[in-house]
Amino acid sequence: MQELMYEGKAKRVFSTDNQEELLLAYKDDATAFNGKKKESFRGKGELNNRISSEIFRKLDERGVSSHFLERLSDTEQLVRKTAIIPLEVVVRNIATGSLVRRIGIEEKTALTPPLLELYYKNDELDDPLINDRHALLLADITPGELMKIKEKALEVNDVLREIFEDCDLSLVDFKLEFGSTGNGDIILSDEVSPDTCRLWDRETGEKMDKDVFREGTGELVPVYEKILQRLEDSTCAK
Ligand code: TMP
Ligand code: ASP
Repeated sequence: MQELMYEGKAKRVFSTDNQEELLLAYKDDATAFNGKKKESFRGKGELNNRISSEIFRKLDERGVSSHFLERLSDTEQLVRKTAIIPLEVVVRNIATGSLVRRIGIEEKTALTPPLLELYYKNDELDDPLINDRHALLLADITPGELMKIKEKALEVNDVLREIFEDCDLSLVDFKLEFGSTGNGDIILSDEVSPDTCRLWDRETGEKMDKDVFREGTGELVPVYEKILQRLEDSTCAK
C-alpha cells in the first residue's frame, strides 16, 4: 500500500510495500527564494523525473551509486529508502548566484579547485550557510561521515561535469542531499536536475536551468526539454 509520507516543494514521497524502498512523485510546481516565488508548469514533473532518472543512471554507469533504483512512470521513480541528512551540499565550479552576493567575487570567476559549501536544510531559517562544526552539531553524523559526504560530493562533481560536457553544457554549480540507509550507509539521495544544478550552454553561455524561472528571463519547460534531449542524445552517441 502506498501512503504519503512527506510532501516537499517539488516532490511527494510515498511508502511502498517494500520497507526498504520509497516512491518519489515529481510535481509540476517550481519554487524559488525558499518558496516565495511559486508557479506550476504542466510537464515539469515529468521532465525532472526523466532528467533525474537519466542522470542517476549515467552516474551509476560511471561508478557513482545513489538511491535511484528505477523510473516507474512519467512522474514517478523508485528509490532506496533513506533518512535525509539535513544538509545541502553545494559544489561550485564557476562563481555566480549567492556566492557572488555573499563574498563579492567577480561573476564567472573559475573556481579551481571547486568550492564546497554546506547549508542547513531548514526552510524556516532559509537554509543558512554553515561550517563543519555546525553540521556536526545539527546533523546526526560523525566527523568521518561528514568527510565522506564531502569527498563523495566532489567525486559526483567530477563525474557530472563529464556527463554534462558530453551534452555541451557547463556544470556551474549544484546542490546535493545525502541520506542514511537502515544499515548505516550514507548514499546520494534527492534529485539531480536543472532545479538543483546551474547549467550553461558551453558555446552560447545560455542559462539552461531553474535560473530562467528564478530570474524571470525565459520559459522553463522548453529549456528543461532541451536538457532531456541532450542527455538522451549523448547516450545514443555512445
Ligand atoms: P545559490 O548560488 O543560490 O546558493 O545556489 C547554488 C546551487 O544550489 C545552484 O545550482 C542552485 C542550487 N540550489 C538548490 O538546489 N536549492 C536551493 O534551495 C538553493 C538555494 C540552491
Ligand atoms: N529550492 C528553493 C525554493 O524552493 C530555492 C531555489 O532553488 O532557488 O524556494
